[in-house]
Amino acid sequence: MCCGIIGVLAIDGGSVAHVIRESLKRLEYRGYDSIGVATKYNGRLYIKKDKGKIDEIHRKLNLDALPGDIGIGHTRWATHGEPSQVNSHPHTDCKNQIAVVHNGIIENFLELRKELIERGHKFKSATDTEVIPHLIESFIEDGYTLEDAVQSTLAKLHGTYAIVVLYSHLKKLICARKESPLILGVGERALYCASDIPAFLPMTNKVLFLNDGDLAILQGGEIQLRRIQSFSSPIQIRKPVLIDWTPEMAQKGGMPHFMLKEIHEQPKAVQNTLRIRTEEIDRLVKLLNEANEIILTAAGTSYHACLYGGYLFAKLAKINSQQIISSEFSEKIGETLTDKSAILAISQSGETSDTLNAINYARNYGAKISAITNVVGSSITRSADYFIYTLAGPEIGVAATKTFLVQITTLALLGLTLAEIRGILNNSEVQDLRQQLFNIPKLIEQVIEKREDSIKVTADLLAHKPNFLFLGRGINTPTAMEGALKLKEISYIHAEAYPAGESKHGPIALIEPDFPVVFIAPQDNTFDRIVGNIMEMKARGARIISVTDSRKIHDLSDHTFWVPKGVPDIFTPLVNIVPLQLFSYYSAVRRNHNPDKPRNLAKSVTVL
Ligand code: G6P
Repeated sequence: MCCGIIGVLAIDGGSVAHVIRESLKRLEYRGYDSIGVATKYNGRLYIKKDKGKIDEIHRKLNLDALPGDIGIGHTRWATHGEPSQVNSHPHTDCKNQIAVVHNGIIENFLELRKELIERGHKFKSATDTEVIPHLIESFIEDGYTLEDAVQSTLAKLHGTYAIVVLYSHLKKLICARKESPLILGVGERALYCASDIPAFLPMTNKVLFLNDGDLAILQGGEIQLRRIQSFSSPIQIRKPVLIDWTPEMAQKGGMPHFMLKEIHEQPKAVQNTLRIRTEEIDRLVKLLNEANEIILTAAGTSYHACLYGGYLFAKLAKINSQQIISSEFSEKIGETLTDKSAILAISQSGETSDTLNAINYARNYGAKISAITNVVGSSITRSADYFIYTLAGPEIGVAATKTFLVQITTLALLGLTLAEIRGILNNSEVQDLRQQLFNIPKLIEQVIEKREDSIKVTADLLAHKPNFLFLGRGINTPTAMEGALKLKEISYIHAEAYPAGESKHGPIALIEPDFPVVFIAPQDNTFDRIVGNIMEMKARGARIISVTDSRKIHDLSDHTFWVPKGVPDIFTPLVNIVPLQLFSYYSAVRRNHNPDKPRNLAKSVTVL
């Protein structure tokens, strides 16, 4: 999901540096904060890497000048360590003989790093990846072959990875994957391994898919496969598959738009975010818990995450908080902040001027500043006392989808810990909820798999409507607001959201026969009241679209977007928003708009 990796072995002995650079360019959508290439020539490694976009770095360093007929490359989306020259991949061992590119997260890197440092290894970067070349080095020093050294190293890692290893003494690439993507390309003149098909598609369309837990050895024109878990004999090589995508389609995983691809990536993005280290959550919780007041602030979709956080903190941890749209922050809060106020700012880009401005305002009063962002090294991380990175990987579509889900996932993790340390829930209650939270990625996957087609049919039917009303209650009021925002921003259909209970105080005046009203209606404690709201709307002829797990609501609805039963009330927004994202997407497509680039909007807004 984040970072792109590539390895190229030229069977015919041609030079590979320019091939790697062009491949990285096609993988840039997977990450673009740093670039690096390593090649091997005459028994030594040559490496060029830096922070920045590939074209800039190529102009500065001339990547194509790297010599050799074998090499690896990486385009980075930082997760550990700021974007910088030293943190860029490839990473090497002490003797610069082993170079590694990696996509994923090594969870136990701190322990491994400590052990290696005690044994005399010298580390250059702040990344989790660097433990890998050092571990391989130590096994090679113990007399292991390269492949056995890589395999023994992988056995020590907890977390996720796709890696490619280059060694100065052998014309051989070793690559392996666990829960991060990696595929092989079989060309006439070269073998490739890469995170994704576009990397090598112009050179070959013969793709060999690796299974989770596979390790591949590329040497000469040959590919050998092993299982990471077993040192026994090689496993049988599968037949390459022929791909008929254009490189542009391939960048979007065969999907027509990044937005759709990113909606489909949500189960994985949430799963990755659930892996945020407990210590990171604990530190932020401590900051919030020690404060006299908590204020969440953000813009756009991230503001809806703040609203979710407000309901969640109150329900789960009995904490009151305020949520303020960042551009209103100073006006709304006035001079009331103190050094006992805690601010939690949420911004996927970490660059939104309104949000940065709110933080700076709060800092003048000595307030403690924390942040949740998806972009490592972004401005918000420099303005905050403490921050957490969500792990969605880069989001290219302008409309936030997966970054919203990971924000509310992070808030759910914070809420659970807050509830526990404040003694509102006991440890076993927290563990039980945590277990159910960890099950959410599977449920999101089910919604996408089972409901996408019928949601598209409904969108096709209703996309000509000029106005929509979105209604929800309680913790799904923010879901209604986010659903309306998505529809408005990419399909240009006017959509308004209200707490359902408020609809009788104004919006109901708009209702005439066939006016579409979307209800977010899970079977929680608001159920009976939302049924009442649906009846009020039906009585005036509204067309009811519902997101629900209830047959009773289904019977009252003209269209139902089914979601799974049994999700704890406080986590239902994580599942309920998904059909609404798909509905917006298909409405935009039906109206012939490009959902990835809505008019007048930008991915990050750096003006006030
Ligand atoms: C822009 C984008 C929105 C986004 C908002 C906040 O308006 O178009 O999709 O929600 O900025 O962005 P942030 O990066 O701070 O979450």
